Amino acid sequence: MVHVAEVEEPHAGPGTIRIAVRASGLSTGEVSIRSGKMRGVVPVTFPYRTGFDAAGVVDEVGDGVTGAGIGDEVFGMTAATTRGANADHAVLVAWAPKPAAWSWEEAGGAAGSVETATRVLDRLAVGAGHTVLVQGAAGGVGAVAVQLAAARGAAVIGTAGERNHDFLRSLGAEPTTYGEGLAERVRALAPGGVDAVFDCAGGALPDLVAIAGSPARVVTIAPDLTAAALGVHLSHGASADDTAAVGAADPLAVHGLGIAVELAGQGRLRVPVAAAFPLTEAAAAHELSESRHARGRIVLVN
Ligand SMILES: NC(=O)c1ccc[n+]([C@@H]2O[C@H](COP(=O)([O-])OP(=O)(O)OC[C@H]3O[C@@H](n4cnc5c(N)ncnc54)[C@H](OP(=O)(O)O)[C@@H]3O)[C@@H](O)[C@H]2O)c1
Repeated sequence: MVHVAEVEEPHAGPGTIRIAVRASGLSTGEVSIRSGKMRGVVPVTFPYRTGFDAAGVVDEVGDGVTGAGIGDEVFGMTAATTRGANADHAVLVAWAPKPAAWSWEEAGGAAGSVETATRVLDRLAVGAGHTVLVQGAAGGVGAVAVQLAAARGAAVIGTAGERNHDFLRSLGAEPTTYGEGLAERVRALAPGGVDAVFDCAGGALPDLVAIAGSPARVVTIAPDLTAAALGVHLSHGASADDTAAVGAADPLAVHGLGIAVELAGQGRLRVPVAAAFPLTEAAAAHELSESRHARGRIVLVN
């Protein structure tokens, strides 16, 4: 059960900052953990403090931190092991200045999506002239992945339900639906084939491997346990002990935050917000996430 509780105030330690949180992201992975879907896969002990990314105003600076001061507006991520971003105060281990072009809601849900998308696009070596298929492109990670891939000069095909096709076009992707016949639809859109597939949805990896031509050209972030048997890399950025059974963790692509700031400043990166809930209504936000049809990121507002 998700509920609001009084806990001890966290403080910035060496190399970290604390922020007074203005908005934070709802992590879809944590929704799976809380619902019990991931039990036996991701070991976790309760009570479990939720929230991986947040935006807010710096109110404590730890020893050794340079380039951040009290009163700065930033967005960033907590340590994967401690989390706790869905709170009044959060300790961040990686951060960047909040782009002026983003609202607090957008900034609150940015870091996790940006880090994940950058990590996977780097691994797939997506660059100019490539064609990339993003499966589940209208979700929190997918919507950012589409824009980051397009900013690298790639042509992007994104899958979503039809009601999200104009949304995908607005992000820079050629939309198509997921499900039966996907390989034919992708072939029609990209007769020369696709260079890489970024799976944000799970459940269709055999089709995606066939479309890519090789499991090495597919990376999934969904908790799809068929990945290993198919030779597909399941990328996870959390600490290794968090993810023992779903594959070794990849290093966090923290450099993505700086790239995001630059693109946001050029008006080339938005963080679509599916819905913003007051922090105290986190349980309702979890319910929306479980529908698996949110358009963009769900955020909690302080
Ligand atoms: N490993 C990692 O590092 C990492 C990091 C972040 C998230 N994740 C995981 O990655 C997944 C995606 O995260 P997210 O936050 O982007 O999720 P999300 O926001 O909940 O994704 C929702 C989107 O998924 C689409 N969708 C639903 N069923 C689909 C299907 N069968 N095929 C293709 N698309 C489908 C929906 O599109 P329509 O509404 O148009 O149907 C909706 O736009 C989750 O499982 C999450 O736990 C992993």
